Amino acid sequence: MNNKCAATGAKCRARAEASRIGAQIGAQGQGLDFSERKGATEMEAKQFLTSTTAWQNLQDYYNKNGKGLVIKELFAQDPNRFDKYSLKLSTPNDGDILIDFSKNRINDQVFKLLLDLARERKVEEARDIMFNGGKINFTENRAVLHIALRNRSNRPIMVDGKDVMPDVNGVLEHMKQFTNSILSGEWKGYTGKQITDVVNIGIGGSDLGPLMVTEALKPFNKGLNLHFVSNIDGTHMAEVLKKVNPETVLFIIASKTFTTQETCTNAKSAKDWFLATSNDPSSVAKHFVALSTNAAKVSEFGIDTANMFGFWDWVGGRYSLWSAIGLSISLSIGFENFTQLLDGAFFLDQHFQTAPLEKNVPVIMALLGVWYDNFYGAETHALLPYDQYLHRFAAYFQQGDMESNGKYVTRSGKLVDYSTGPIVWGEPGTNGQHAFYQLIHQGTRLIPADFIAPAQSHNPIGGGAHHRILLANFLAQTEALMAGKAEAQARDELERAGTGADEVGRILPHKVFEGNRPTNSIVVRRVTPFTLGVLIALYEQKIFTQGIIWDINSFDQWGVELGKQLAKAIEPELQDNNPVSSHDGSTNGLINFIKSSRS
Ligand code: F6P
Repeated sequence: MNNKCAATGAKCRARAEASRIGAQIGAQGQGLDFSERKGATEMEAKQFLTSTTAWQNLQDYYNKNGKGLVIKELFAQDPNRFDKYSLKLSTPNDGDILIDFSKNRINDQVFKLLLDLARERKVEEARDIMFNGGKINFTENRAVLHIALRNRSNRPIMVDGKDVMPDVNGVLEHMKQFTNSILSGEWKGYTGKQITDVVNIGIGGSDLGPLMVTEALKPFNKGLNLHFVSNIDGTHMAEVLKKVNPETVLFIIASKTFTTQETCTNAKSAKDWFLATSNDPSSVAKHFVALSTNAAKVSEFGIDTANMFGFWDWVGGRYSLWSAIGLSISLSIGFENFTQLLDGAFFLDQHFQTAPLEKNVPVIMALLGVWYDNFYGAETHALLPYDQYLHRFAAYFQQGDMESNGKYVTRSGKLVDYSTGPIVWGEPGTNGQHAFYQLIHQGTRLIPADFIAPAQSHNPIGGGAHHRILLANFLAQTEALMAGKAEAQARDELERAGTGADEVGRILPHKVFEGNRPTNSIVVRRVTPFTLGVLIALYEQKIFTQGIIWDINSFDQWGVELGKQLAKAIEPELQDNNPVSSHDGSTNGLINFIKSSRS
């Protein structure tokens, strides 16, 4: 054995793996070079997604057969289709999770060609590079290690020669102690009262994840009232402040950078409001904590860094709920449940790392998305949870997916000639059925959709009738979207209802549903911290896989910066009512209208 590695077997293996991966990252011409390079070489041209063999095979197949893939006919041809195209993830304590992807426009040949694409794009190699701390976010020279935050095996994960796990565990311990002292009432406000309300002030990844998860896991709430303020619109803060008492409120200032304009402004207003009552700057320490990577800015704001929960530049904002950014989650559901959430994500990560591609759920979901986005021209993807507690799930993955894969430049800086991230949207069922499902059923666009439901409700009221009806709708929708309604059936129904021949002729076209709308169905036994952790990580790894296939950097977000720069330039112009002429005609017109309308 190498002497340097004699100390610990696990560390030694991790170092060897890191060095193997490092060599792989450095290897040229493997299609996996994540380092920044300028210009396209001949090799790169061959590796350009649409020139690859796997892509061209898919394109050929689509051109010849794409329109002919009719899901209900595929079911008729293959009695084993459900078994073939569904997978079960067996969790240790929270039951099986079923992922049914049989209602898709795929057959064995398409499935094979999609898997060939994943292999040709070296998805597994890229995955291993991420899990081993490779700096795959090369535009910011950062590793992408949200997976380390939920690395429950504690295996060493090295960044710049240092194992990140001791720091990860240190912050988790701090979160545990703090959560326990707040929930037990040991932590007191400045007048000696217990904390009753928590206000998380953050935006984007420092808001959406904690908000979505605390809503999703409300049945596990330990007693604190949770509030979230994200919008710079003063209304958001004002409405929350009406509900809380300075003596019993805890403000969590959540910002990776601690420079985000909205969060800094909201945090200052919260502090001013608090000090207007407490009148004592030393009382801030009992009512304000910070979650950030930026200790200097936290101190500058007036929060003692002893009350700061740190994380690292290798945690992307939209992947940060597993980090200190999850403190509001821990306060809501207790630290034990927070670790269950991490356990669920770790379970999915292990599946992603070890399952062969043809049984790998995030990979399959990613490939199906590519099939529809790039070959059928689907522009959006709907996330439709049949669970009211998951009402922010789609909003959360709007950032997760669209900020990650909304890119039109490849890793080597070329413009793509294919579409990348879809528009992600959705609302819980059954509400959506009475709003936008019409367009999914009979509109002109193909809208692939994921339906998510728990077999058991946390609130089985009405003797279980509510949940039974909810599930009946969950099942009926995917069946209807696939099967549609043929002209003969629609005619028969009209005739049975006594409709006259002329009327039948007039109405019939409107009553026909083409069907063949693709869906995935995901069923968990119950929405628990563990199963939610699995679900979130599943979508994260799907997004990662698609980013690799599309050859984009899923981990930066430069596209949001220009608007921020311009807002900073415009804000001083709004301080008086003098007309401006420094912008384009429309922007000048809007600014001047606002100025003239506010006096
Ligand atoms: O502007 C986009 C963004 O940078 C997101 O990526 C991030 O989640 C959000 O702003 C908030 O950033 P921060 O946590 O640094 O305040």
